[in-house]
Amino acid sequence: GKILIYTKDQGAALGDLFGIFFEDINHAADGGLYAEMVRNRSFEFDPIDRHDYDGLTAWEKVELGEGKSSIQVEQEHPIHPRNPHYVAVEIIEAGEGVGIKNLGFNSGLPYREGETYTFSMYARRSASFDEPVAVRLEGIDGTVYGEAKVMVTSEWTKYEVVVASSATDFSGRLAVVTKGNGTLYLDMISLFPTKTFRNRPGGLRDDIATMLADLKPKFMRFPGGCLIHDGSLNAGDRDSMYRWKNTIGPVEQRPPRKNNWRYHQTLGLGYFEYFQFCEDIGAKPIPILPAGSDPHSQRYVPIDELGPWIDDALDLIEFANGDASTEWGSLRALLGHPEPFNLEYIGIGNEEIGEQFFERYTYFHQAIKAKYPDIQIINSSGPFAAGGEYERGWRSARDNGSDFVDEHYYQSPDWLLAHYHRYDSFSADDPKVFLGEYASWGNTYYNALAEAAFMTGLEKNAHAVGLACYAPLLCNIDYVNWKPDLIWFNNHQVFGTANYYVQQMFMHHQGDHLLRMVTDGFAVPAQPAGNKERIEGKLLVGANLNEVVYRDIRLINHETGEVRTLTDKVEIGETEEDRRHRSEFGRNAVVGETGLKSYSLSMKAIRKNGSRGFIMFF
Ligand code: AHR
Repeated sequence: GKILIYTKDQGAALGDLFGIFFEDINHAADGGLYAEMVRNRSFEFDPIDRHDYDGLTAWEKVELGEGKSSIQVEQEHPIHPRNPHYVAVEIIEAGEGVGIKNLGFNSGLPYREGETYTFSMYARRSASFDEPVAVRLEGIDGTVYGEAKVMVTSEWTKYEVVVASSATDFSGRLAVVTKGNGTLYLDMISLFPTKTFRNRPGGLRDDIATMLADLKPKFMRFPGGCLIHDGSLNAGDRDSMYRWKNTIGPVEQRPPRKNNWRYHQTLGLGYFEYFQFCEDIGAKPIPILPAGSDPHSQRYVPIDELGPWIDDALDLIEFANGDASTEWGSLRALLGHPEPFNLEYIGIGNEEIGEQFFERYTYFHQAIKAKYPDIQIINSSGPFAAGGEYERGWRSARDNGSDFVDEHYYQSPDWLLAHYHRYDSFSADDPKVFLGEYASWGNTYYNALAEAAFMTGLEKNAHAVGLACYAPLLCNIDYVNWKPDLIWFNNHQVFGTANYYVQQMFMHHQGDHLLRMVTDGFAVPAQPAGNKERIEGKLLVGANLNEVVYRDIRLINHETGEVRTLTDKVEIGETEEDRRHRSEFGRNAVVGETGLKSYSLSMKAIRKNGSRGFIMFF
């Protein structure tokens, strides 16, 4: 056997191969990366989001001493029409103070001794009201860790104050109380740690953002996932598809949104913040837009009404890259970023399988390429199980000249091992693969190892695979929609899984060029001097989906011609469990000698019912 390494320019460029995919699933944004500590800050929670939500979800009444009050959510005089609800605290008896307190995410609001928190709210009062309003960082029993007072006027006004905590308590409460008389109106009650990632006000949780930055991803796909295309076609609906224009500008003017992962989405983490975060961590932004097509509820915008949807895509590119003389570029400058965000990629659709989507995709593709020929467009394809290996997506991509096709798969570790060669036969002349979502089912070391093996298969096929990202990225342990996930967190801690460290290893060591290697048989690598003289390896044979019987597995030493029978027969069984336990054999069975030796393996195999076999030596 031999290994031939060709020169650099005969290999393929690895480009932006490994990145991350952020979707607000598992409370990844609200109650996660987005550092807002108050849950339901704008009293916009609604049964539309989830059956057990209402405007007062995560809020409790406070009545101290003889205090008595009535609390209700109103909408007659909102701070902005897109943020219609606010709370009215009618003070019946002031006692030692009345008001409301927020329960936060997880066990409560996390306070740390000596740290400061930036509180803000919109408030107004009725004419008779003349007392200050106290803002308190509290424990669950009402112990006050920090307090500030503000005088409120009778017009909606934004108040902001920084409060320090005298204690560490991860189950805290935020109380807003007063001894005034009359009615106090409150909205957008917000508390952020003053220390956020890059110290941006209203920014990102430093610990989670740092975990993401530490991966050193080449790109970030966002904001979904199913999140983008599940929903109604009207951008003004609470349950509309994800429309990026709803997510920019002052947070109190961003409309509430039903998140299809069965919770409420504030959109406080919006497109401007996504672009800024990408820039902060050196990742190229890859926004994914809905194509007016929801394959789940089968809602499709009529073709002759596609215009505004296509405009969304064109305007987004202008928002990211246009200069200050353009409409959307000037808005970006106004929001604080005169320099472009240098958008290179855009994705249309997510996990699409229907003809209705592909019909619409063509209109998007043509309009984008006509105006922005250098923008690389990502077409879509269904999840692996749905579409006969994605054929429809690939056909559309070839017909339209898409730059990428987005493939997704969540499978067993053995499936990933069995599909190590998936892209070997893909042509460099085709659109490239964007593996926009993949994972093996679990966060064990074995899952991580299988993913690592699979990722070497992505690397070695850089001619065909352009971009790849694990999914999902983040999960709040108390709000699990989906697992496994790459990073787990609660309201004050964050943990990387074994899978995280595999991703990190690959991202930290991304090459620029693939050196083409040709092997004949396989080679046992030379051992450095001083190492043991005999090389021991292990052979893994497996099966995917169903049974496989292997017979007469033999190892042939190319130099001596020696033929060694490793085993007469291995039967890989029917169940997943069975396959996992019985697929590994021959530990310490393959023995070579120091120096580069080469071997061939011969075997006979019979498969049942379309199963696939695979073999690894390591
Ligand atoms: O990653 C979780 C979900 O899996 C994504 O939202 C969707 O695209 C896929 O089905």
